[in-house]
Amino acid sequence: MKKFFPIYVRGPLIFFGFFGLIEFFVDSGNRPAFVKYPIIILILFVFLVIQIAVEYMVSAVNNLIYHITPEDKRNAFVAEDVVPLTQRKWFKRLMKRLTRSEPVENNALLLLDHNYDGIRELDNKLPPWWLYLFYGGIIFGAFYLVRYEILGADDQEAEFSKEMAQATIDIAEYRRHAPDLMDEESVTQLTDGPSLDKGKAIFQTNCAACHRADGGGQIGPNLTDDHWIFGGDIRNLFHTITNGGRDGKGMVSWKGTLKPTQIQQAASYILSLQGTHPKDPKAPDGDLWVRPEAKASMDKPTVK
Ligand code: HEC
Repeated sequence: MKKFFPIYVRGPLIFFGFFGLIEFFVDSGNRPAFVKYPIIILILFVFLVIQIAVEYMVSAVNNLIYHITPEDKRNAFVAEDVVPLTQRKWFKRLMKRLTRSEPVENNALLLLDHNYDGIRELDNKLPPWWLYLFYGGIIFGAFYLVRYEILGADDQEAEFSKEMAQATIDIAEYRRHAPDLMDEESVTQLTDGPSLDKGKAIFQTNCAACHRADGGGQIGPNLTDDHWIFGGDIRNLFHTITNGGRDGKGMVSWKGTLKPTQIQQAASYILSLQGTHPKDPKAPDGDLWVRPEAKASMDKPTVK
């Protein structure tokens, strides 16, 4: 059995090759796979044990072959292992085929007969390794031309904008399914019974002390009328409850206490109280609230 590489090269090479393959194929985000899945450490360990066992087996087999080889042939058998890589027959043959270089002794045969002021030229063969690269380049170029210039596949710019568009869609989708990432841009008004019941419970526990159980207002403003200090849209309410009112007025920020979904439920509940006219309500604070779209149509000049 020929040893192409000494053990101190072959051992690490095989082990880290295996390690690299795992890292390449196991999808572990931006953390190394063996950190994310500790089981991989176990797999690597088992692999290492097997690798060592195989090395032992191979060397045992080598020993055996050595001993059953007739004495006169043993030298050839050992010689094969001792010769350095670059001197091995197969390596030399490979190099010859890749370069087709002529030994320096043959330069006289290659010399072309012209002579430019003493500068002569050798007619060497083009090295095949270089020629193959060149042919490869031509084939690649042909495919490239057909694919991108004729069939119009996406170039980097088109790929980029497609991925960005997809990412925007993915983010919107993710936000929809992760309600606690909701913010005042994405919040929607809830109208279903169970959500309003939850909102009512939150309101009674946290808010009734200042806004009264029926929302009629006491320390805090009346939440049932159509006057609002900070706007009467679900987004305005979400913003006010999340961030609080003006300094020193008493309306604190609730974002540390309530989750975005709970704020959404409370705000939706408050909006469901619109126009309920509780007994002796607090006088309206703020301005008459007109929905932006309604306002826009009111602002339009009427054509006569
Ligand atoms: C300590 C008393 C207090 C508590 C408790 C309180 N608020 Fe307020 N709230 C106020 C005051 C005072 C204002 C007016 C703030 C201002 O003028 O800046 C206000 C304003 C508001 C507004 C804006 C009203 C408008 O006209 O724009 C909303 C909505 C609101 N509160 C909802 C809530 C919700 C929901 C809770 C419970 C999670 C709550 N508040 C708890 C005192 C309170």
